[in-house]
Amino acid sequence: MVNFNPVMDAVRTAQILSEIREDKMSGWLELPKRMHEAGLGQIKEVAEKVRAGSRAVVFIGIGGSYLGHRAIIEALRPRSEVKIVYAGNSLSMRELELAMNEVALMDFSVVVLSKSGTTLEPAIAFDAFKKELISRYGEEEAKRRIFVVTDGKTGALHDEAIANKYIGFAVPENVGGRYSVLSTVGLLPLAVAGVDIDALIEGAMDADKEAAMKYAWMRYNLGARDYDTEVFATFEPCTAYFNEWLKQLFGESEGKDGQGVLPTSVVYSTDLHSLGQFMQEGRRNLFETIIDYPTDEINAKAVVAVRKAHAEGGIPVLDIKVSSFDERGFGELIYFFELACAVSAKLFGVNPFNQPGVEAYKAELKKLIQG
Ligand code: PA5
Repeated sequence: MVNFNPVMDAVRTAQILSEIREDKMSGWLELPKRMHEAGLGQIKEVAEKVRAGSRAVVFIGIGGSYLGHRAIIEALRPRSEVKIVYAGNSLSMRELELAMNEVALMDFSVVVLSKSGTTLEPAIAFDAFKKELISRYGEEEAKRRIFVVTDGKTGALHDEAIANKYIGFAVPENVGGRYSVLSTVGLLPLAVAGVDIDALIEGAMDADKEAAMKYAWMRYNLGARDYDTEVFATFEPCTAYFNEWLKQLFGESEGKDGQGVLPTSVVYSTDLHSLGQFMQEGRRNLFETIIDYPTDEINAKAVVAVRKAHAEGGIPVLDIKVSSFDERGFGELIYFFELACAVSAKLFGVNPFNQPGVEAYKAELKKLIQG
C-alpha cells in the first residue's frame, strides 16, 4: 500500500488511539459497526419516500454535509430514476438560480442536510426551494416533499422540522460534519441516489487500520521534514470530488495552531498538461499521494510512469491502492482516511474534531450583513 517505512512510535500511536476513543466526538470510529448492526432498512424506506412522486431531488448542504455523498455519487454514478441536484454549497445567487432552473419542469423534493441547522448557505437555498415547493404544491404537500437530517435537539432547522413534522433523521451528537458521511448525513442522500449503502458500510468495516496508522505517520514524518503540502492525485476524473472531500477532511482537521500539511489535489492525466510541470520541477516542498484506483491498461501505465518520473524529480510519492471501484472500495477508503486524518492531526498536536478558524469569516460576514 505505501512504499516506504515511516518512523513510527508504537507507544505514541496507542496513546493517540486511546485519546481519540475518549474524545466526545469519536462517534465515527464505531459508526460502520453500529450502522451495520442497526440495519439500514429505515434509511432505505425514507429514501423511497424522498423519490416517490419526484423526478428530481435537491440535496441542500455544505462542507461535511455535502462533500462525502457527492464524492461517491459522482464516482459511481448509480442508475437512478431521479435526477440529483445540489444546492446550498455557496452563497452565489447565480448558482442557486441555476439549481432552481434544473427542477423547473420536474416534480421534485428536497433533502436538507445540516448538522447545526444554522449554516447560512444551506439556509438560504432551503428558503428558496421551500418557497418554490409551496407555490407549486401548496403548504401541506410541500411539507411532505421536505426531508431533513439535522441535530436531534437544537437549531433552527430542528425546530422547523419538529413544527412541520418533516420526515428525517437526527445526526449523532458525537459525529462531526467532516466525519459524518457514514452516518445518515451521507447515507440518506446516497440511498436516494441508488448507491448500495450496505456494501459501503461493509467496506468501511474492512478498512485497513494498520495501513491508516502507517500513512498518518508518513504524513507526519514528511511534514516534520518541511514537506508542507500534500497533493492528492487521482487518475480517474470522476473521483475529483473525492479529492474535495479529502481536502476538507485534512484541511479542517489539521490546519490549526500554525500546524498541518496543506492538502491540495490534481486530476491526471489532465493536470499533467498544466500542474504537471510544477510537480516535476517546481519548489520541492510537496509530496504526492496517489489514490490508485483499479483502472484500464493505458491509465495504469500512466500511474507507473508518473510515480517514477515524480520520484526522480525529488517528490516523495505515496500510494494508496484501492481494492475495488465500487461501494465497498469507497467504504474502505473513507474509513481509512478518517482514521489516518484523526491520528495525523493528533501527531501534529492539534484537535482533529474542531474548526475554530471557520468562525472568523462567519463573524466578518455577519457584521457586513447586519450593517
Ligand atoms: O466539518 C464540519 O464540521 C463543517 O465542514 C460542516 O460540515 C459544515 O460547516 C456544514 O455544517 P452544518 O452541517 O452544521 O450545516
